[in-house]
Amino acid sequence: MQHVFIIDPLERLDPTHDTSVALMEAACTLGHRVWVTTMESLSLVGGEVWAWLTPIVVFPTTLDGGRWQVRSPWYELGGGFFGSLTPMQTVWMRPDPPVTSAYLFATYLLDYLDPKTTRVINSPKGLRAANEKVYAMQFRDLIPQTIVTARREQILDFLQNRERVVMKPLDGKGGEGILLLRRDDPNLNSLMELATHRGTTPVMVQEFLPAIKDGDKRVLLFAGQPLAAINRVPQSGEFRGNMAAGGRAIAATITPRDREICASLAPILQFDGLYFVGIDIIGGYLTEVNVTSPTGIREMDRFDGTRLGEQIMAQISSQDF
Ligand SMILES: Nc1ncnc2c1ncn2[C@@H]1O[C@H](COP(=O)(O)OP(=O)(O)O)[C@@H](O)[C@H]1O
Ligand SMILES: [Mg+2]
Repeated sequence: MQHVFIIDPLERLDPTHDTSVALMEAACTLGHRVWVTTMESLSLVGGEVWAWLTPIVVFPTTLDGGRWQVRSPWYELGGGFFGSLTPMQTVWMRPDPPVTSAYLFATYLLDYLDPKTTRVINSPKGLRAANEKVYAMQFRDLIPQTIVTARREQILDFLQNRERVVMKPLDGKGGEGILLLRRDDPNLNSLMELATHRGTTPVMVQEFLPAIKDGDKRVLLFAGQPLAAINRVPQSGEFRGNMAAGGRAIAATITPRDREICASLAPILQFDGLYFVGIDIIGGYLTEVNVTSPTGIREMDRFDGTRLGEQIMAQISSQDF
């Protein structure tokens, strides 16, 4: 099989943490061929999608005392060339969010790949359809009480019978810009103005889930099926569980409730071509559907002794999705 990974520059990737590296490593281990490229080089030439393609071999990692051991450098590159993506079976669209206009434009170019022969994970249409925060709003029975609005009055109304709520930018990631609002906070008005850019940009406002003290669970799904889970526990004095905000990853199992959530999402994810997705669950409530560059494989493999990347690659090889 031949895979292209559209990623951020390699030097920014952490081979002991980044899921893109785990996936590339898995493909190499299984004898697939892998090329890397970045969004900027994507082009349309004669109606075909082309890019600057650099062959890569990612060396195998090992686990030693619960830590990933990687060779330094952890990959070897071959000579790059400007070539067509048409012969590829899989194109992995995995630059880190936020979704910028450059990111959106890349999805428009990827629309020109024939999905019958080249599968883009995740599908460009799905990536455009699914804002990571707002997408969860369609699963009314699974999410905590939530509104999306730029209107100060609506936010205050939502705060009316609640002591505290969480306010989130719609294009955030890694806990960036997540705020806890309290009715009696002297900065309340200012925080709303800042977050909504003076009432012009909608934000998500959600009931505060005290269960966050026990963690924010990440479940990774491939083709609608839950693969594995980890829990991320906020550090003391913090309510954000994101690893990027200092949250501690610990082992977790997939509970019947998690399975119920995944089963509700699965048909809609499949319809939207969202094959590889990471959902966030706090206290049994769905809070986020991460579609742009979901992560967690390295931590899950570390805790569970699995090789999820190889599992996914094997499923792709057998066209079983
Ligand atoms: N409703 C909520 N109640 C309590 N904590 C929350 C809530 N929503 C989010 N958080 C905290 O904020 C973090 C980030 O929220 P999330 O919606 O996953 O956005 P992102 O991960 O994209 O920044 C979560 O890991 C969690 O710790
Ligand atoms: Mg999250």
